[in-house]
Amino acid sequence: RVAGPCVLVLFGVTGDLAKRKLLPAIYDLGNRGLLPPGFSLVGFARRDWQHQDFRQLTHDAVKEHARTPFREEVWKQLSEGIHFVPGEFTDDGAFDALAMALKEIDQTRGTGGNYAFYLSVPPKFFPVVVQQLKRTGLADAPDGSWRRVVIEKPFGHDLKSAHELNETTNEAFPESSIFRIDHYLGKETVQNIMALRFANNLYEPIWNRSYVDHVQITMAEDIGLAGRAGYYDGIGAARDVIQNHLLQLLALVAMEDPTSFDANSLRREKEKVLKAVRLPADLATGTARGKYAAGWQGGEKVVGYLEEEGIPADSTTETYAALKLEIANRRWAGVPFYLRTGKRLGRRVTEVAVVFQRAPHLPFSKDDTEILGQNALVVRVQPDEGITVRFGSKVPGTAMEVRDVSMDFAYGESFMESSPEAYERLLLDVMIGDPPLFPHQREVELSWKILDPVEEFWATQGQPEDYPSGTWGPPSADAMMARDGRTWRRL
Ligand code: BG6
Repeated sequence: RVAGPCVLVLFGVTGDLAKRKLLPAIYDLGNRGLLPPGFSLVGFARRDWQHQDFRQLTHDAVKEHARTPFREEVWKQLSEGIHFVPGEFTDDGAFDALAMALKEIDQTRGTGGNYAFYLSVPPKFFPVVVQQLKRTGLADAPDGSWRRVVIEKPFGHDLKSAHELNETTNEAFPESSIFRIDHYLGKETVQNIMALRFANNLYEPIWNRSYVDHVQITMAEDIGLAGRAGYYDGIGAARDVIQNHLLQLLALVAMEDPTSFDANSLRREKEKVLKAVRLPADLATGTARGKYAAGWQGGEKVVGYLEEEGIPADSTTETYAALKLEIANRRWAGVPFYLRTGKRLGRRVTEVAVVFQRAPHLPFSKDDTEILGQNALVVRVQPDEGITVRFGSKVPGTAMEVRDVSMDFAYGESFMESSPEAYERLLLDVMIGDPPLFPHQREVELSWKILDPVEEFWATQGQPEDYPSGTWGPPSADAMMARDGRTWRRL
């Protein structure tokens, strides 16, 4: 899979995402030989810059963050195709200049009129940029070429705004040309959930309510706001992570097998699951939220959320959120799915744990099995990528003592190939025009439908409960599990 000739137009080149992820990913694609000779990268931003300034920014970002080694000849080829167009999003003249520049690039670099517009900008600018692309005709593909728009989450902050955002985007681009990035879908380990389930016959027969006790999906971060106060406050952990990444993980774990991996089949199965998700009847006991207080992290003293720069002292934004969901269908009825995410937790780890019911009968003495847990299959999404199966095993010795052990699959040990960064995979898919790993608008709206009542409830509850930085969240999250006779996995 190699991209055909095209131009990638990046709005928001000076942002953190561009520097840390997008620009390095473009270089890495080039280094892996996946970019065509007819490729050009165009930056657009409100800076009084020359092409050379954007080249320098890209160079520094690549040097600092690229995954693959720096090779002069790869950089040279990429940098020759780097252009910059200065301007405000409201400035018609700047967009006219962009249209002219793209025409010229088509002539000089053979990019064939194929353009992908990547909006790595705050969502309030989506409408104006999209309208400019429409006004200048850049959104309309002449015969034999294509035009695509890539948008980054957040896709709105509730169902209504997500719907409006989509209407605006649809005025300029048809659904088939809109690529919504949920970078979790670009992760190797997340795509591997589908391989694990549907390329094997070992797990699928027990992947249901007859054998599964519950599922825990965790996305824990040790970092705090990392300078993103402006974005994060008023959004919070649930909108930032549960609405997109965790509900997508839930959909992949719980969906039926798609008839194939084309976008329609895959999205249809994910939508069916999202439609079947049910919230707990009592949101007070079936959800939990918290905000980090001052504490110690990695040997350093860190401030609490309310003391972070740019956060108002009366903010009610949560930095930790946990939800208990059920899926009302034949496969999953009665099996709780517990989702949790938070900042400033004990360590950075994302995993999906499918926890199985206990064996119906244990023909061992109680003393010998006292510390036996439940069987679990854990997809280790990051950072230690792999899969673990937990099961009871005889302890070597002269007695029949049983204890939990792990069987581990680690990417590094089984594969010579290194995992591409999520954004590499997704950028390549955009350029190829391959949409399965991009959520459809219907999935976005179904996810907001799940979350909206929770947000409305939380909005009446004042400030979230404190948890010291470096711990595993507020006591109410543990109480939520304890009420069900369960505990969160220790990570
Ligand atoms: C983003 C969230 O979508 O994912 C951030 O907006 C979060 O708040 C980030 O830090 C985490 O991504 P990853 O790939 O490091 O798990």
